[in-house]
Amino acid sequence: MAVRLGFVGAGGRTVRELLDLVQVPDAEIAAMCDIDEARCQQAIERVQSRTAQTGDADAMERAGALNPATYRDVRRLLDGTDVDAVYVSLPPFAHGEIEHAVLDAKKHLFVEKPVAIDMVTAREIAAHAREAGVITAVGYQSRYSSAVQAARKTLEGVPIGLAIAIRMGGLPGTAWWRVQDRSGGMLVEQHTHGVDLMRYLVGEVESVFAYGNTQLLTDVPDLDIFDVNSVAVRFAGGAVGSIVNTCALQPGQGSPANVAGSVHIVAKNMTLMAGAGSLTVMRPERQQEEVRAEGDPNLEMNRVFVQAIQSGDRSGILSDYDDGMRTFELTYACQLSAERGQPVTLGQGY
Ligand SMILES: NC(=O)c1ccc[n+]([C@@H]2O[C@H](COP(=O)([O-])OP(=O)(O)OC[C@H]3O[C@@H](n4cnc5c(N)ncnc54)[C@H](O)[C@@H]3O)[C@@H](O)[C@H]2O)c1
Repeated sequence: MAVRLGFVGAGGRTVRELLDLVQVPDAEIAAMCDIDEARCQQAIERVQSRTAQTGDADAMERAGALNPATYRDVRRLLDGTDVDAVYVSLPPFAHGEIEHAVLDAKKHLFVEKPVAIDMVTAREIAAHAREAGVITAVGYQSRYSSAVQAARKTLEGVPIGLAIAIRMGGLPGTAWWRVQDRSGGMLVEQHTHGVDLMRYLVGEVESVFAYGNTQLLTDVPDLDIFDVNSVAVRFAGGAVGSIVNTCALQPGQGSPANVAGSVHIVAKNMTLMAGAGSLTVMRPERQQEEVRAEGDPNLEMNRVFVQAIQSGDRSGILSDYDDGMRTFELTYACQLSAERGQPVTLGQGY
């Protein structure tokens, strides 16, 4: 039976999810909601025109037939359209009431990363989701990459010593992104993917000590986020690591090869460089191994969510709300440490 989906927030990320979901025959796009309701129709049109360029006849037919009910308010969506699950795709500061409304209605919940910008909001939603007993997922699509799965397998039982998560890129155009109390900053909003990958491959973090500064983008109006961050990390298992990022690169300035969102890991007798696109493994006296990711991890993530709702079996979901919250907590602790100028032990003092 088709899974009826609702969407809250009709921005760029929802367009991306819909481009995938028109390739999933069992997904029915039943309703959309945005405070600017006209954006729902604009999103549909973008999905239709971009799907038309793919040449995938089935997806084109499904995109052409998209006709979701549109709303301005999530409660009206929940009252007006019978949905099985709701995707929440909002600027980070807007989380809270919307998830609670979805959970009050006992609908399954997909939340785009980061799950929130403060721990109180995230913990309250997590507790509500557990109590509601619904299926949850958070949009950490890199976990569904075959290269990342190969990295997990390679590291099974191997002691890890050092891990480095690096992201170097430019400044996104979205206005809310550059405002600290709207996006949560670069660690929380963007490098969350690399930090999540680090957690997924290496394990839980015990404490962090971060430095951050607005150092290079001082001429950008209305920007108050740190544009450079460097974090020292201690993992619960004894390994140490670094999280390093910047959003200050200008077009043409480039980014050193293999560092855009990847995680570098030094383990016993092997070094790995893992990202959503590929995995490189280097070992003494062996040829370097390269694994290129197959398929589209984002499509796979959406497929798994739809299947989990159909079957009631959530075991294929690689990041549920509780797990997504732990990645958020780690980035939040880094941000806090940079602001306080002091180390932060996870779970203490905030
Ligand atoms: N996983 C990924 O790779 C990835 C990529 C891009 C964005 N994202 C995440 O997706 C989320 C959304 O990003 P985006 O790029 O689509 O942002 P966006 O600004 O393009 O869209 C957000 C939409 O939410 C709407 N909105 C705001 N408050 C609302 C409310 N209370 N009720 C209903 N609608 C509301 C806005 O009008 C806007 O249309 C962010 O958390 C972002 O980090 C994830």
